[in-house]
Amino acid sequence: MRNRKFRNGGFSFVGALIFLTIIALIIQIAVLIYDYIIQRTDDKGLIAVLMLVVIVILSLICTVIDWIRRKITIDRPVKRILEATEQIASGDFSVRLDIEGPYGRYSQYEVIMENINVLAAELGKSEVLKTDFIANVSHELKTPLAVIQNYAMLLQDEGLDGETRKRYAKTLTQAAKRLSDLITNILKLNKLENQEIKPEFEKINLTETLAQTVLSYEDWIESKKLELNCDFDDVLIVSAPSLLEIVWNNLLSNAVKFTEEGGRISVSLKAENGKAVVRISDTGCGISPETGVRIFEKFYQGDTSHAGEGNGLGLALVKKVIDILGGEISVNSAIGKGSTFTIVLKGVVNE
Ligand SMILES: Nc1ncnc2c1ncn2[C@@H]1O[C@H](COP(=O)(O)OP(=O)(O)O)[C@@H](O)[C@H]1O
Ligand SMILES: [Mg+2]
Repeated sequence: MRNRKFRNGGFSFVGALIFLTIIALIIQIAVLIYDYIIQRTDDKGLIAVLMLVVIVILSLICTVIDWIRRKITIDRPVKRILEATEQIASGDFSVRLDIEGPYGRYSQYEVIMENINVLAAELGKSEVLKTDFIANVSHELKTPLAVIQNYAMLLQDEGLDGETRKRYAKTLTQAAKRLSDLITNILKLNKLENQEIKPEFEKINLTETLAQTVLSYEDWIESKKLELNCDFDDVLIVSAPSLLEIVWNNLLSNAVKFTEEGGRISVSLKAENGKAVVRISDTGCGISPETGVRIFEKFYQGDTSHAGEGNGLGLALVKKVIDILGGEISVNSAIGKGSTFTIVLKGVVNE
């Protein structure tokens, strides 16, 4: 829409032609009237007065014609633009101006109108995102807060036996951790989105860092009796380790979380054509195609049975990091069979 043809500086060839024709017509009428008068009288004074009257009347006609022209070509679009901007200023972003350039040509006013339409649509979108975000955060805050409130009350009962007291305290700690994880993730995502976290690139041994992250999940993997397969090439890469950590941790924790006891987790690292390809697979619950298109959205949780163990921000963070690093992420999954997340990163230096 921005390269649409529009009349430069409000100049229109058709408009100018009409204006010239009117002037020519008026001069022609004045000449004819002058001709008519001098045939009927020789009185120079009378001719002068009559011609003055004629010129005043013709000037008035010209002024009225110009006034109508201005009304149509300037005042009308300006009024519409004014009304639309007032509507936007009052917080109504549903405004859309109807743009009909005559003969497929657009005046600058119509280009402004089209820009106002785009502006209103964009403002409307960010307004929806903002209210959705606030609703999601409030919802995510409420659940653990309710748990904390309830269990703090229960703990006040002096007759509780040691075992129950321990159990309640554990639930309280878990709810507090959920709150703090949520806030950490929101702040991290916010910083990434506002470009407050600048990736600090350095040469890293991807094989080593990936192996270390996988190892940190050993206890959890063992407790769920999962089989773990790792297949790592030696890969040195220039990338941002603190950002990559977010990726591996979220993908691995999802793989373990969404896989039932006795399942299998596989992690592989390959160097292909100067790029590092990391695949994290599991034999867990899998993702349906409808869920698959939404998993990278903020706060989206597909599998409600695990909703209490996360806040739906993990993959949004992962996607943001991958975008910042200029990499790619894709997911291949089938319900009940498992999922494979594939990450492609540039910057391999040892191929
Ligand atoms: N490995 C996986 N297996 C099955 N579903 C997954 C997997 N990883 C992500 N998902 C789906 O994507 C959703 C979003 O993931 P994420 O952003 O990490 O949120 P969370 O883990 O907090 O639920 C999950 O709720 C789940 O439905
Ligand atoms: Mg997660």
